[in-house]
Amino acid sequence: MATNPTQIELIQPDDWHLHIRDGEVMKDVLADTARQFARAIIMPNLKPPVTTVDLANAYRARIEGQLKALGMNSFTPLMTLYLTDNTSADEVRKAKAEGIAAFKLYPAGATTNSDAGVSDLKHCHAALEAMQAVGMPLLVHGEVTSSEIDIFDREAVFIDQVLEPLRKNFPELKIVFEHITTLQAAHYVRDAATAGKNTIGATITPQHLLMNRNAIFAGGIRPHNYCLPVLKREEHRIALLEAATSGSSRFFLGTDSAPHAKGAKETACGCAGCYSAFNALGLYAEAFESVGKLDKLEGFASFFGPDFYALPRNTKKITLVKQAQSIPNELPLGDATIVPLRAGETIAWSLV
Ligand code: NCD
Ligand code: ZN
Repeated sequence: MATNPTQIELIQPDDWHLHIRDGEVMKDVLADTARQFARAIIMPNLKPPVTTVDLANAYRARIEGQLKALGMNSFTPLMTLYLTDNTSADEVRKAKAEGIAAFKLYPAGATTNSDAGVSDLKHCHAALEAMQAVGMPLLVHGEVTSSEIDIFDREAVFIDQVLEPLRKNFPELKIVFEHITTLQAAHYVRDAATAGKNTIGATITPQHLLMNRNAIFAGGIRPHNYCLPVLKREEHRIALLEAATSGSSRFFLGTDSAPHAKGAKETACGCAGCYSAFNALGLYAEAFESVGKLDKLEGFASFFGPDFYALPRNTKKITLVKQAQSIPNELPLGDATIVPLRAGETIAWSLV
């Protein structure tokens, strides 16, 4: 690859962490993802959460109905279940048998719609054992929830208090540390000694590769740059960029695109979540280009995710060109609007 390419071709990527909500909102956001990605891991934090195989199958059917209406039949949603204190080993085995891709651990209260999350992992022993036995990945929102812990430290503390003990107890469990935001997480995943192949991975969002916490306060409060885990200091952004572009198969693409209506963000107590789906691939290309590592984008975006999940890699190719794309100030979202990441600005790369 040329040092400063203006065009890159890659196997079509997948998004290994995505929120598309339901109903009218889903109608408006799904096309953005399906235009760029072949598959996506669909997060289960609906209201009420997707806690059973039956609920996930019904959700999948609604997504597929919407894809059909959009004429986007080549996109595949990969369904997940929301782990609770009451998830049974039987439900895990049923999930495996019915093609559910993973379970998601939300510590109760950690983020948007996580009230029904796990209060203490000791309640989940049987479910975790079953996951380990059948090879069902556990996706973790890696933050402790205790209000005494500084919000900028919650991910690093989670590693010591929850993740490391969990991995000791279930050494063969496949775990994805979702949307990592710190140097500690990047190094933990990079250096983890594993019992088997693919027992630890991590997803990284475009906003955490491109912005540090100054972006939340640039000239005033910027609610559209607020997500959880919250943006961190520059040294953490650098460590994430290093991890993503390192060529290590433990790091792969997960946008965590999380749509909230404009009014729910621009308010006294605004929701967490950035809507990055509009031109997510352009954002990642920009991040990789910033360190001269565009040649590492394909592994991160298109190979390491399916390898971790033991799914086939995609075969279709896509092309990104270095052509600035203007991002609208707002996009339609049900009967409201949404402000996408980088609204009113441009993104250097676009999908052909
Ligand atoms: C997500 C959402 O809105 O559902 N928000 C976010 O800030 N990332 C939840 C999550 O993934 O934490
Ligand atoms: Zn998320």
